[in-house]
Amino acid sequence: VIYADYNGSAPPLPAVREYLRKRLDSDLFANPNAIHSMGQRLTKGIEKSRSIIAEVVGCYPDQIFFNSGASEGISHIISSVLNKSASSKKIVITSPIEHIAVSAALNHFKMNHNFTIKYVELDLNGVVRPQSLEKLLRENSTSVSLVAIMAANNETGALQPYVEIASICTKFGVDYFSDTTQLIGKGEFDFLKSGMDFAVCSGHKIGALTGSGFIIAKEPTKLHSHIFGSTQEHGKRGGTQHYLGIETLAVALSDFNDKKTGLKTLQEARLDFESQMKSAFSEVIIIAEKAPRLAGTTLIGYPGLHGQAVQIELESHDIFVTTSAACSDNQPETSEVLKSMEIHEDLGRSVIRISLSYSHGKAEYSLLVQALKDAYNKLSKIHSY
Ligand SMILES: Cc1ncc(COP(=O)(O)O)c(C=O)c1O
Repeated sequence: VIYADYNGSAPPLPAVREYLRKRLDSDLFANPNAIHSMGQRLTKGIEKSRSIIAEVVGCYPDQIFFNSGASEGISHIISSVLNKSASSKKIVITSPIEHIAVSAALNHFKMNHNFTIKYVELDLNGVVRPQSLEKLLRENSTSVSLVAIMAANNETGALQPYVEIASICTKFGVDYFSDTTQLIGKGEFDFLKSGMDFAVCSGHKIGALTGSGFIIAKEPTKLHSHIFGSTQEHGKRGGTQHYLGIETLAVALSDFNDKKTGLKTLQEARLDFESQMKSAFSEVIIIAEKAPRLAGTTLIGYPGLHGQAVQIELESHDIFVTTSAACSDNQPETSEVLKSMEIHEDLGRSVIRISLSYSHGKAEYSLLVQALKDAYNKLSKIHSY
C-alpha cells in the first residue's frame, strides 16, 4: 500500500504511535487544570510540549496557543483581527488560492460586516506576485486591516514568497496572517525570522493526532478569547486541553526536526518521478512545475482523462491519491485554485495530487511511476475510441 495523500491527512508517525502505545499504558489521565499532582504533571507535559514546539518552529513558547487544528486557528485569527479593526479599515487583502477555511472566514466578514476583499495577482505557476500586494497596499494602506496569504498551497504545493510578503506588510504597518498548515512540519520554517504576525498548524497534517493544533501569534494580545470558559491558553481558548494531542504535536515536530534531511531525498525522488512521467507521455503536465514547491507534492494532469478514473486505477494497485483538494474530491470539476491559475478545464479535471512525506523516497516513487504509466496507458486507449 502506498498512501500518497499526506496533504489531505498524514497518518500518525511511527514515533507518535510508539509514544502513544506507552503513553496509553501509563496511568496519567486527569484534568490538567487540577491542582493535585496528577493535574500538575499533565500541565508540565503541556508546557514541555509548548517549549519543544517553540524551538522547532522558531518562536517563544508564550506565542503558541493550542487548539483543535488549522480551521479553528484560522477562524480565531481572522475574527480576532477583523472584529477589532477600526471602521475605517474595512479592506482585507488575500490570494485567490487560499484554503476554504480562509476564504470562507473572509467571506463571512464581507457578507456580514461590510468588509471588502481584494486579491493579489498570481504568476503562471500559481505563485503570488509580491509587487501586486505592494501596489494594493500603496493604493489602500490606511484602509487595510489584514493581509491573509498562505505559505504553501495544499493542491499544487507551490511555496509562496511569505518572507517578502511579510516585509511588505511590515513596511505598510498591516498585520500579516499566513496559513502555514502545509508548511509547518513539512518544510523549513522559522516563525520569528519569517516576519509573519500569525501562523497556524494542524496535527493531522504532520503525523500528530487529529483534533490537535496551534496558533502562533507574534503579539498574543491581538488574539481575542475565542472559546469562552476558564483561563486555559491564557484565556484565549477555554476548555480542558487535549493534552494527548498536544504531546503528539511535540513528538511529531521533534521527529520532523531530527529527520528533515529526508526532504532532500524526497525532493530528488519526486523530481525524478515527474521527469519520468513527462518523458513517457508528451501530454502530461505538472501543475506549478516551475514554482518552488513542497518537497513531496505533485499535481499531475493528462488533459482529456478524468482524474477520478486515474485515482480509481491507482487504487486498484493499493495506491491512494486524491484528485485535487480533498474537499472537492466528489466534484468532478476544476478546483477554484486551478481556475484562478487559468488552467484549462480539460487539464483541470484530469489532475491527481500525489503527496508524500520526508520518510519517503525512491521506493515509493518507482511504484508510482509504474502504476501511473499503466493507468494512463489504459485510460488513454479507452478515451481515444
Ligand atoms: C492550506 C490548508 N489550510 C487549512 C486547512 C484546514 O485544516 P484542518 O482541516 O486540519 O482544520 C487545510 C486542510 O486541508 C489546508 O490544506
